[in-house]
Amino acid sequence: MTFLFSIRPVHAAYSTSSKGWMMRQAKDPYVKAAKANMYRARSAFKLSQIDQKYRVIPHGGVVVDCGAAPGGWTQVAVAKAQKKGLVVAVDLLPMDPVSGAHCIKGDFMSLKVQNKVKALLGRRKADLVCSDMAPSFMGNHMADHARSMELCESALTFAQTVLATNGCFVAKFLMGGTEVEFRRKLQTMFLKVKQEKPDASRKQSTEGFFVALGYRPIKQSKEEDEEDEEESGLRLESGLGLGLEVKVETEIEVKENEQKDQKDSEEAEFNSIQPKKHIL
Ligand SMILES: C[S@@+](CC[C@H](N)C(=O)[O-])C[C@H]1O[C@@H](n2cnc3c(N)ncnc32)[C@H](O)[C@@H]1O
Repeated sequence: MTFLFSIRPVHAAYSTSSKGWMMRQAKDPYVKAAKANMYRARSAFKLSQIDQKYRVIPHGGVVVDCGAAPGGWTQVAVAKAQKKGLVVAVDLLPMDPVSGAHCIKGDFMSLKVQNKVKALLGRRKADLVCSDMAPSFMGNHMADHARSMELCESALTFAQTVLATNGCFVAKFLMGGTEVEFRRKLQTMFLKVKQEKPDASRKQSTEGFFVALGYRPIKQSKEEDEEDEEESGLRLESGLGLGLEVKVETEIEVKENEQKDQKDSEEAEFNSIQPKKHIL
């Protein structure tokens, strides 16, 4: 539970020069507030502020939290969803269990990990799919932006398979241009789409958040409905439709997807534009 306050985070998304980082942390009111509220990360306030404005987490709601470590957003989601809710948190990095949430360690872009999440949801649909996923920065602004949009796409594709009608989607992205296309895509699926920069998001950071409200699922055929029913029946039989009171820490071995690797390296090659650092 020490993440934000006593140790430097290990993921590259957090990395900054040590002196500057420490000075910034010492002055940051959200760092102090996070400590006072027992949040594991100041980023908890970003989701909390979005929720205060748009009410994206209903009491008793089902939340899928992508890119969850060290667990600030998960803490906010559990506190709001409460006992009848169900919160599933996923991250590449290991995270200490959050009471009342299921934590999965693995790459959210892997189907295996996504299926694990679906198994935990069982027959329940999600009220919110949120993503605070951030790529390991390469120091190349456009490459980082492209990778961040890829994470958003992955979260959205998944959201389409689990969101309830009227459900919400929140995703962090790094500004760079192509978020405009992503926004257009969101507008075809949701009643309302907003771009937000909550107060807790540092002014100098290039991050922004899409908040999409009122999911409108594409009507699928009767056969597809039946297939889905069958699948979730099988999941329940295998004992994976679980209540909130059961806490599961699942280690998932993640194999690199060859196609994804190839796409990454093509992107890195393509985006040889001027470097700019992202600060979260
Ligand atoms: C800014 S941090 C999240 C902070 C978290 N929301 C909180 O409040 O504590 C971004 C996280 O995204 C995770 N991440 C990046 N790519 C991911 C992926 N493909 N699958 C799962 N997690 C990923 C990183 O490991 C990192 O922990």
